[in-house]
Amino acid sequence: EIHQKTYLVNGELKEWNGNTSQVVSTISSTKEYAPTVLGSIPDMGEAEAMEALDSATAAYNKGQGVWPTMKVKDRIECMEAFVKRMEEKREEVVKLLMWEIGKNEADSYKEFDRTVEYIYDTIEDYKQLDRNSAKFQKHDGVYAHIRRGPLGVVLCLGPYNYPLNETFALLIPAIIMGNTTIFKPAKHGVLLITPLLEAFQSSFPKGVVNILFGRGRAVAAPIMKTGKVDVLALIGNSKSANALQEQHPKSNRLRLVLGLEAKNPAIILPDADLDLTVNECIAGTLSFNGQRCTALKVIYVHEDVKDEFLKRFSEKVDALKFGNPWDEGAKLTPLPEPGKPEYIQELLDDAKAKGAKIKNKKGGKHKNNYIWPAVLHPVTKDMRVYEEEQFGPIIPVLSFTDIEQPLDDMAESNYGQQVSLFGKDVYTLSPLIDTLANLVCRVNLNSSCQRGPDVYPFTGRKDSAQSTLSVHDALRSFSIRTFVAFKDN
Ligand code: G3H
Repeated sequence: EIHQKTYLVNGELKEWNGNTSQVVSTISSTKEYAPTVLGSIPDMGEAEAMEALDSATAAYNKGQGVWPTMKVKDRIECMEAFVKRMEEKREEVVKLLMWEIGKNEADSYKEFDRTVEYIYDTIEDYKQLDRNSAKFQKHDGVYAHIRRGPLGVVLCLGPYNYPLNETFALLIPAIIMGNTTIFKPAKHGVLLITPLLEAFQSSFPKGVVNILFGRGRAVAAPIMKTGKVDVLALIGNSKSANALQEQHPKSNRLRLVLGLEAKNPAIILPDADLDLTVNECIAGTLSFNGQRCTALKVIYVHEDVKDEFLKRFSEKVDALKFGNPWDEGAKLTPLPEPGKPEYIQELLDDAKAKGAKIKNKKGGKHKNNYIWPAVLHPVTKDMRVYEEEQFGPIIPVLSFTDIEQPLDDMAESNYGQQVSLFGKDVYTLSPLIDTLANLVCRVNLNSSCQRGPDVYPFTGRKDSAQSTLSVHDALRSFSIRTFVAFKDN
């Protein structure tokens, strides 16, 4: 068991003697599928939140602190020192990733390695950015020396599905651009920050990174209320993002860097290659059991190929291997959120009461959080599963005869992240791609939705995102262009 007893504030790993909360994994070694206790974390509140805020504010010191004024070369050295120390913790962090959130072994290693690569790529891009912004420009007799500067204090909150990769996709660019940060790990995937605390502490000047533990509301809300946060960086749900944003007394001054919900559809045209489509839809709907904002969360299949698609897709779903994260070839693993089986059951009951059927034999069966995916059809718009993001292994399937139907649904949707389009005829696909690109931010042709490679812009329309993340874009999201101008006289 790991009992996290310190937190990082003002460059110090301070002892915590207050209340703690248990960290529990839904991975079980008992016949009854009882959860496993992994350890505990501090249950922090307003006092520690203010300590972290004061530390970050002092380190930024109105833009005059050591960190925001540090030479680019030196800031890079700190970041390189951090990533090297982080790499030494690979095995420890990956093991915790598996236990805490149930991500399978291959994907857990991938998450770690992808994060390390993300940091190295960010360093390279930062060097490039710095070189570019050092250039002079001249227009109409006015010279400008344009640079990129930090924004101030960043409050950073990451999600449980990528507690390392997505959290660091916010934190790392925020730090390297010269901001100071307060970071609270996600509820699940929190203990894996423990092995990295020392790396943060020893790599950056005091106050640049402050790490708190506890419930989001207990620590993040008081910080926002002070009005001293310049950037709210959050990947998670819009409810939490809105609630925090509202706490800020001058929210118009707050920069938002948000990755939020999505309801990415797949559209399967009658001439689609069905083998490829089924495989991509399996990956798109069920990687990490559907707990990805980029997951395919609704499938529109043309009536002409509906039956064949449903048959092949359902068989493939039932053939997937269930297991614990370290079991060889396990594609489906237990979901980490304690209330999830009940929630999934509610959605299935609601859909069934409104006329949907579970098409795969094993669909919806569960032992605690070991939940089999359910392929649902026909799904209608009045069903909760159509509306709610669900972040789990339910796959709603709708059929269509007129392409306007999925397009209208997408236009009406509150979300606009990505779409997957399956088909062959280039004269049909080409205009459709143009239309889809105005509804979402990424059109995946004959492939499932995904965020990576991490150099591509990751964003969304409507309630799906604010600002853009990716190696390249995040440096811009966490900075502002300023310039010195002078005349040719
Ligand atoms: O939860 C949303 C993640 O950004 C998904 O990332 O497409 O790499 O799995 P991914």
